[in-house]
Amino acid sequence: MNITLQKPLILRCFLISFFLSLTFFYLFLHLLSPQQPRHSITTKDLRIRPGYTSYDTYIQRQLNKTLNPKLRKIWTTCDWNRKIPVFARFFEDLKDKNLLHNASKALCIGARVGQEVEALRRIGVTDSVGMDLVPYPPLVVKGDFHNQPFRGGTFDFEFSNVFDHALYPERFVGEIERTLKPNGVCVLHVALSTRADKYSANDLYTVKPLVALFKNSVLVHVRPVDGFGLDTEVAFRKK
Ligand SMILES: C[S@@+](CC[C@H](N)C(=O)[O-])C[C@H]1O[C@@H](n2cnc3c(N)ncnc32)[C@H](O)[C@@H]1O
Repeated sequence: MNITLQKPLILRCFLISFFLSLTFFYLFLHLLSPQQPRHSITTKDLRIRPGYTSYDTYIQRQLNKTLNPKLRKIWTTCDWNRKIPVFARFFEDLKDKNLLHNASKALCIGARVGQEVEALRRIGVTDSVGMDLVPYPPLVVKGDFHNQPFRGGTFDFEFSNVFDHALYPERFVGEIERTLKPNGVCVLHVALSTRADKYSANDLYTVKPLVALFKNSVLVHVRPVDGFGLDTEVAFRKK
């Protein structure tokens, strides 16, 4: 009699502890351990950095640096004169290759204080604008590159040296392909052989993931550059 009464009690205890363990396991996975952002791709050649618990954490991290008053002073003074001629040479070269024209409507993504925009304007590409989380009028407007504030088919040319800051590389590229006109050109400067800065959200090891992400474009060229810590220029033309 005693034995038959104990059986359901043992079973009940087992079920309760089983469900409690499941609950703790779920909480550990989803609340306590650092999460990989949802919908973000990670492959052998493109790895999203761990540790971003939410999109807000990611944006705050980017803003911490971009809004730093001391750094902003440097970017708009000594850095300004040092970097603009280098950007101008990159863009002149793209003009020689017929990838950029004076009449091109151009966008620089993640342009911070707009040194690359100023370089484009100085070499004659006057209809140029930058976009960044923090605006810097009149050169740079406010916008998130995961969700560009422009209509589809707006630009002839887009340049960016901040692919490594994309938490969602597929959205970064998807937005470029959306806002480029057909036959529009996108030029990226990326770091393949060195790791970019500590504010980067991803690490890229080859150009393969880029080629896969630019689904609606053809690869125009890949070549070495010396661009402020970035070693490779990759150009695409939208179909
Ligand atoms: C390494 S800085 C590059 C600045 C500039 N292109 C240059 O070469 O001087 C990266 C820039 O990307 C911007 N950024 C980061 N995440 C962004 C996002 N989701 N949308 C737009 N800009 C972003 C940052 O605010 C920062 O200004």
